[in-house]
Amino acid sequence: MGSLLILPGDGIGPEVMTEVRRIIAWFQDKKYLKFTVEEDLVGGAAYDMHGTPLADETLAKALEVDAVLLGAVGGPDYDNLSFNLKPERGLLKLRKELDLFANIRPAQCFDALASFSSLKKEVVSGLDIVIVRELTSGIYFGEPRGIHTDGSNERIGVNTQRYTESEIRRVAISAFELALKRNKKLCSMEKANVMESGILWRDIVDEVHVDFKDVELSHMYADNGAMQLVRDPKQFDVIVTDNLFGDILSDCAAMLTGSLGMLPSASLGNKKENGLPRAMYEPVHGSAPDITGQSKANPIACILSFSMALRYSFSDVQNANLLEQSIEKVLAKGYRTPDLMMGEQGSLCSTKEMTDKILEELDASL
Ligand code: IPM
Ligand code: MG
Repeated sequence: MGSLLILPGDGIGPEVMTEVRRIIAWFQDKKYLKFTVEEDLVGGAAYDMHGTPLADETLAKALEVDAVLLGAVGGPDYDNLSFNLKPERGLLKLRKELDLFANIRPAQCFDALASFSSLKKEVVSGLDIVIVRELTSGIYFGEPRGIHTDGSNERIGVNTQRYTESEIRRVAISAFELALKRNKKLCSMEKANVMESGILWRDIVDEVHVDFKDVELSHMYADNGAMQLVRDPKQFDVIVTDNLFGDILSDCAAMLTGSLGMLPSASLGNKKENGLPRAMYEPVHGSAPDITGQSKANPIACILSFSMALRYSFSDVQNANLLEQSIEKVLAKGYRTPDLMMGEQGSLCSTKEMTDKILEELDASL
């Protein structure tokens, strides 16, 4: 029996998570999936209750369970909090404490949505790439950091890009392993032309390649990578990159598919004693305060995050495929949340109605 911790968080997080709970209940009911589901607070919601964006008890639970499913964190109510109390710190602390170093962000263009991308249909149709982003090191965590005055009369903001060989090696291995299961092509992105950390990154990725000779490896400067992602994204299969570049490039890749509301992610760490990797699953979209509470949020990214949990934590490929196919059918029939509607034919759905349609497809598969 597995265990799942749900952290809905802020903004549209709780709304989309309500829908995911219905999907989970369906699998428990109809497919006899056996896992326990607990729920707790993170981000602004945790701050409101406990005065901290991640309570110690919540972190302890997250370390205990097989998988964490997180909605989103952040919102305008928390903008003026001191840095360490901001909702985002809760998320970063979870990633760091669980040591979730490999962030897997697929960007897949559903056929029914190809004309919806801001790029030409032929550039994105059939797109299926994955960005592996290093998630627990680099400039988001490096020391020294801070804002100080250094005796001068102006403030200086400092962050440090810092990578050890082993940090690069372990994420490179994850990326090569993933590429092996896919089309066996890996592109590593850094800025080795201007950053020493990039030179080391390239060296280590080359070293790891020796053990994965079946994978075709290429290197690209990250700025060129950004350009290539918009010019011809289908040239890629798996991309591996650091925390900062991965943050930016994955948002860019996400938009190729038409909507941020469609994209799940998995953050994986080392294997625990029971053989399962530490894992947290979350939609790539944020808390979307502009549409919170209006039943407009697209629940698909979060539902697909659960599907990634089935695949990577519970090794349940069959049910993950079933869920993904059901979503594809719903989209093919033209059901659309508002984020998928702009200038597009289709039947407008609320957050709940979209889930109703997915549940209908699941029922039809029985
Ligand atoms: C992401 C987000 C986070 C990040 C924020 C919310 C801290 O942008 O998951 O990409 O920068 O990693
Ligand atoms: Mg981001």
